[in-house]
Amino acid sequence: MRLILLGPPNAGKGTQAQSLINKYHIPQISTGDIFRANIKQETPLGKEAKSYLDQGLLVPDELVVAIVQDRLKQEDCQKGFLLDGFPRTVVQAEALERFLKEDGSALNRVINIHVARETLIERAIGRRVCQRCGATYHVAFKPTAAEGICDSCGGEVIQRKDDQRETAEKRIQVYENETAPLIEFYQSQNLLVTIDGEQSIEAVTTAIYEALKDA
Ligand code: AP5
Repeated sequence: MRLILLGPPNAGKGTQAQSLINKYHIPQISTGDIFRANIKQETPLGKEAKSYLDQGLLVPDELVVAIVQDRLKQEDCQKGFLLDGFPRTVVQAEALERFLKEDGSALNRVINIHVARETLIERAIGRRVCQRCGATYHVAFKPTAAEGICDSCGGEVIQRKDDQRETAEKRIQVYENETAPLIEFYQSQNLLVTIDGEQSIEAVTTAIYEALKDA
């Protein structure tokens, strides 16, 4: 299964990715997670990406495309993958298309999670993530059992730097300008299924499974 999870920041892509990778036994490739890990380890890539993430801007296409292409060549991606947060521009989508063509493979589906702007802001402000394993929580919608401690691994649960209202609004604006055109891009290839992301986490998962039945 070769999938893309598309949707604005805080639509629930990372949350849904967890169920999908377990069900289909495919790796999750989250470009946001790759950048955050590199920033934490202070690698040259992390140093270059940091200011873009802090401001809610997109990292330049050349950099992102090279990282994803390298990752897709790895053994664990041969039978499929879940792209979470990539592509985010038409340039990135075209690069992915070229890469898959050269590889003799193709996408099965693009799942577009639709959520209204105000809900996105509410989700951003309340989101908490585990520093150790990356598990995602929400102070109201998906709280940890013990405050500040990850249910899965016991790691410290923190707020992401780009989850302040101002940066969240900026990221939505960037999404509307740069990423939303991908909806039409994939619709024209008959790959796109739009899911109502305002439902409960479980209801969104069920709707995605339904959309993937014949994929
Ligand atoms: P990235 O990490 O990809 O951020 P994003 O796309 O903005 O996605 P998020 O992680 O913010 O949200 P999500 O949709 O995964 O939602 P989540 O499941 O956490 O990218 C970060 C930055 O990296 C970018 O700004 C950019 O700088 C850079 N970058 C990354 N990829 C790039 C690329 N390809 N090109 C260029 N730059 C790139 O859920 C959010 C919250 O809502 C959680 O608290 C969750 O518990 C809650 N929630 C989820 N679903 C529901 C539900 N149904 N009901 C109630 N609450 C819910």
